[in-house]
Amino acid sequence: MELKPGLSAFVTGGASGIGRALSLALAGKGVFVTVVDLSEEKGNEVAALVEKENAKFHSNLGFPSAMFIRCDVTNTKFALAFLRL
Ligand SMILES: NC(=O)c1ccc[n+]([C@@H]2O[C@H](COP(=O)([O-])OP(=O)(O)OC[C@H]3O[C@@H](n4cnc5c(N)ncnc54)[C@H](O)[C@@H]3O)[C@@H](O)[C@H]2O)c1
Repeated sequence: MELKPGLSAFVTGGASGIGRALSLALAGKGVFVTVVDLSEEKGNEVAALVEKENAKFHSNLGFPSAMFIRCDVTNTKFALAFLRL
């Protein structure tokens, strides 16, 4: 799949390690990223970095190009809820 600006991705475990690196790599292609993780502080930090990187591809969007959702992905109820967003 070709990564193009304007595509959207959910990255679970996106607040650190591999997920963080993936989030930033996607942002480097102009992809909108929803960071899903248990860690609010680190997740918000990654979302802010994604927004900064995304600004190189998108201007005057009128909505955030990245967001953080605190979610335990092992909890089916919460995981399904964020997929319905
Ligand atoms: N780093 C490596 O070289 C490597 C190699 C092979 C496999 N892995 C595996 O890949 C996975 C990720 O590795 P990493 O180095 O990025 O780890 P990491 O600890 O840096 O990142 C994992 C992230 O997932 C989040 N997380 C954990 N449980 C969660 C849950 N239930 N719901 C939502 N978020 C949750 C954590 O808060 C953390 O931000 C691990 O399972 C690890 O064993 C890592």
